[in-house]
Amino acid sequence: MNTLPGQAKGTAHGKIILIGEHAVVYGEPAIAFPFNATPVEARINKTETQTMLSSSYYTGPLDEAPKSLTNIQTLLAKVKEDLDRPTDHLEITIDSRIPAERGMGSSAAVSTAFVRALFAYFDVPLDSDQLIRYVDISEKIAHGNPSGIDARVTSSDSPVFYKKGRTFESLAIDINGYLIAADTGVKGNTGQAVADVARLVEADPDQTMAVIKKIGQLTLQAREAIAHDRLAKLGELLTQAHTALRQLTVSSAELDHLVAAALRSGALGAKLTGGGRGGCMIALAQSEQQAKIISNTLMEQGAIGTWIHALGEDINE
Ligand code: PMV
Repeated sequence: MNTLPGQAKGTAHGKIILIGEHAVVYGEPAIAFPFNATPVEARINKTETQTMLSSSYYTGPLDEAPKSLTNIQTLLAKVKEDLDRPTDHLEITIDSRIPAERGMGSSAAVSTAFVRALFAYFDVPLDSDQLIRYVDISEKIAHGNPSGIDARVTSSDSPVFYKKGRTFESLAIDINGYLIAADTGVKGNTGQAVADVARLVEADPDQTMAVIKKIGQLTLQAREAIAHDRLAKLGELLTQAHTALRQLTVSSAELDHLVAAALRSGALGAKLTGGGRGGCMIALAQSEQQAKIISNTLMEQGAIGTWIHALGEDINE
């Protein structure tokens, strides 16, 4: 996206994994959708000083940014090398409404917006495969062994059915239901959770792979339930996926508490979303009114923010 000469911007958005997280790292399918309620914008201006970064997380010279921003430094170095353009006098601004480290794909979305802004700044076209390759580089730094789903969904306009290295299909989620996402307020730790699941696979391969395969089956069933507008069935599958994710040790007391509260207040199903160990959970409701009741309950029970998403439509809150 071009603005004035010497200025450019790029955008992206958060994502919600409906079902399949963690198992997707092991080749099982996952379903995720773009979450436009949480946009990110990266802007780049020319400056006379050294390259600076301004974000809610850190503001100052990019060279002195904390370790958690290594992915931005690495991406900049890679783009500089690939495009053979100078990157010494850039003023980079990142505005993100995605809560960081909450399982909503914050790091991938920031990288997507940043790479789009850089290519726009240098006035070089960027296709989606190139973009995903760059975002995958940064996700490897952020998460160790990412499946690649975040890189794809944070730059996609439609829901996706995804299998690592194999399938990336748009999926119509035309189902009459509402999804509530709630933030526990506790930072998740995707890298640690992914590493701990890897350790479980090593320590107890049979049992752990059985749980991972079970999540894959639930995801396939969820795709069927969506295709046939079976909302109650989809809800049951989500709750079963949460049980399986607990067995993989990636839930937390706060996530379990909000999942139980959502189910008590009439949700058709509920589960953690994303990497877990904190971060966000989702719940399924059959009507907007029910979704609001569940959302209020979740706030009363300790959530620090909620979003309501009409499935099959754009965001309404
Ligand atoms: O926590 P997030 O938003 O980065 O989601 C991670 C999803 C995992 O399946 C746990 C990891 C991955 O790379 O797919």
